[in-house]
Amino acid sequence: MHDAEAASYSTGERTSFAWETARERWPVILTQAIDDVYRSVQECGDDKEKETEGRVIVEKLARLKYDVQHDRPLEPIADDGESDVAAYNAELAQLGPLSWLKAPWLFAECYLFRRMSTYFKLSTHWSRYDPFARQKIRTFRSSRPAVLELAARYGELMQQMDAHKADDFAAEETLFAEMCEICLWGNATDLSLLTNLTYEDIQKLQGAEARRKAEANILVNDLPTAYNILTKARDAAAQRAKTQTPGSSVERRVDIVLDNAGFELYVDLILAGYLLRAGLATVVVLHPKNIPWFVSDVLPSDFAALLNALANPKPFYETPSEEEELQGKPAPAPLTDAERSDLAFLFSEWTQMYANGQVVMRPNIFWTQPGSFGRLPKNAPALFDDLKTSELVIFKGDLNYRKLTSDLDWDATTPFEEAIGPLGPGSGINVLALRTCKADVVVGLPAGKDEELRQAEGGGGDSGARKWAWNGKWAVVSCSQGKEAATSS
Ligand code: F6P
Ligand code: MG
Repeated sequence: MHDAEAASYSTGERTSFAWETARERWPVILTQAIDDVYRSVQECGDDKEKETEGRVIVEKLARLKYDVQHDRPLEPIADDGESDVAAYNAELAQLGPLSWLKAPWLFAECYLFRRMSTYFKLSTHWSRYDPFARQKIRTFRSSRPAVLELAARYGELMQQMDAHKADDFAAEETLFAEMCEICLWGNATDLSLLTNLTYEDIQKLQGAEARRKAEANILVNDLPTAYNILTKARDAAAQRAKTQTPGSSVERRVDIVLDNAGFELYVDLILAGYLLRAGLATVVVLHPKNIPWFVSDVLPSDFAALLNALANPKPFYETPSEEEELQGKPAPAPLTDAERSDLAFLFSEWTQMYANGQVVMRPNIFWTQPGSFGRLPKNAPALFDDLKTSELVIFKGDLNYRKLTSDLDWDATTPFEEAIGPLGPGSGINVLALRTCKADVVVGLPAGKDEELRQAEGGGGDSGARKWAWNGKWAVVSCSQGKEAATSS
């Protein structure tokens, strides 16, 4: 375990986003899950056994919601046959007794989703059911304009990139930054932040200025370090290829520890496709979750659902949803031929990369364990060793950042490398966090920045709450070069 020097955020702390999350967001999340399962129970038809099991799950979820709202104790996780039950319960016993509204935030929130998953796993007919799947795909459908815009741009960029290849490194670095920033803001669901770029545009002052505007909200931006890591690896591989037997392996891997499904997974795949096409990686390994997690996180089935939507975009985008019909909304506009061909290009690009083994999905139970990623070397040594073979491991989103930094109340100027402890310098892993801020923890800021943001409108003022960091408006892009030796300071 990465025992750190700062305190954990707690659901009992009024000034933490944990307070609001436990009292307002968790009951809503549970209500959504109850509604979803209830709806599926209605669709069971003649399958009475399934219907009865579904009703039991609804009752369990309702009881859990009651427990959360009434600050009842966290009970041991029922044995659903998974290998992490004992570790969850040992930690609960060690931290406990805990009640919902006075618990360490990170542990309690992971426990909440893990506990929900037992209700399904212990059933016969619902063991693989995801109560958030409907929500995830609905949100993806509603991001249609941005999806189409990016699909068009990706096709164009790939053509232009092929034409300019291998001679313009300044433009390549700019494009790398653009792709990473699109991928970063895809987590904020604030789609308006996407800039409209072409390969030529990004070389013009205006394009650079537009990007600089969005960059003003990135409080720490280590993308140049990440680009340097990937180009150095590419150069070294080219050098090795010259001296080694023809055909010997020159694999260069980039890993993406995924966050959310739908639009965010879509932009992650755009980044993966770009890295492969630009020769900045030869393989991209994606790490999804294997149980429904923090509502929107990617499960392997979400990857399939996304590809399915792209394979059949007409029914996906043009069939009115039940809600649209009930609200009497006009039918969605048909896709144009150009839009359909842009989506078809993406579909063929991604399915080919997947079929060729250039894009790989690799779930691991470690990602849904509670607590810090600093536990990786001890709790998941095989995964740790595997990640060491990657040139760069990209951690997407807010929760992954909370886990990287142990979700502790660090001083905001604490260096990122220090806050990530065992994954920092000397770990053998190059870490890049692409995080829009949606929780209290933040590190690596210049002195005075946190204070300045607190004093700005809605930033929390003198309340003691770091409110500016709760709404996804600000971001941090932090890189740690763990393949380099630790320096004593
Ligand atoms: O419930 C709170 C939270 O854990 C916050 O950290 C964050 O707002 C959200 O859930 C998860 O965000 P993300 O999908 O970016 O990890
Ligand atoms: Mg998430």
